[in-house]
Amino acid sequence: MGVEVMNGRMLAAMRESCQLAARTLVMVGEHLQPGMTTEQLNTLVHEFIVSHDAYPAPLDYKGFPKSVCTSRNAVVCHGIPGDEVLENGDILNVDVTTYFPTKNGFHGDTSVTFYVGEPSDEAKHVVETARRCLELGIAEVRHGARIGDIGAAIQEYAHARGCSVVEDYVGHGVGREFHMKPQIPHYGKRGTGKRIREGMVFTIEPMINLGAKETELQDDEWTVLTADRSLTAQFEHSIAVTRDGCEVLTARPEVVRHCEDVAWADVGPLSAPAAWAARSAAAS
Ligand code: MF3
Ligand code: CO
Ligand code: CO
Repeated sequence: MGVEVMNGRMLAAMRESCQLAARTLVMVGEHLQPGMTTEQLNTLVHEFIVSHDAYPAPLDYKGFPKSVCTSRNAVVCHGIPGDEVLENGDILNVDVTTYFPTKNGFHGDTSVTFYVGEPSDEAKHVVETARRCLELGIAEVRHGARIGDIGAAIQEYAHARGCSVVEDYVGHGVGREFHMKPQIPHYGKRGTGKRIREGMVFTIEPMINLGAKETELQDDEWTVLTADRSLTAQFEHSIAVTRDGCEVLTARPEVVRHCEDVAWADVGPLSAPAAWAARSAAAS
């Protein structure tokens, strides 16, 4: 079977699930502070999603033990919430996936990297590079473009900023299944790969390292670290392809605190419209 193309009814269902995931990230930003544990974040996310008649898709997904992924500092992705305490200067990716409604539903998959307290210059560099990489990837998407165009745009920018792009984990189709075809690498060459078609729905979720691109899987079989233990950051949106661009299904209705509200945040107009509007208003 080829890549699924969604009709209007399916896209409407995707919008609902994706908007709940987006609002979950806004909620996390309102609670995040140094001294709290990632287990506490897990509880907040779990309760929020369940109270909106949805299911937190990571829970029991291929045996994943928690309801959200929390990936701190040198953790690339799939970090498991637990008793680790967030400290001033940490960066933390929170990756939320909703399944709505809880039966025959659709998935919404989105993540941001938060700043816990005051970040170092290195932390700002890798986080803002990852944020811009997602914006640049999204800007490539339109009916008739190729999948390689997305990765090429991301890779060019990351390298120009002296960062590397993780190749071991990629974006993916999303819908009734958590992970579907097509795969969306965050590296590649322009004009290569399959053509993107209107109605396709997939994630773009670049993982950007301050050091080398290689990763290492921990013994828990989930936690992915940078092999050189350098800092790493990630942003993710679920998007639907249109004739001349795309709809960012997980675009946030409000600014995410400890992420988009900091003075140095390099927010763009595409994936975080609320933050962009707030930034533009403040500048004028
Ligand atoms: N949300 C991740 C992604 O962006 C996948 C997490 S799988 C889990 O694809 F099992 F770790 F939750
Ligand atoms: Co994803
Ligand atoms: Co995700």
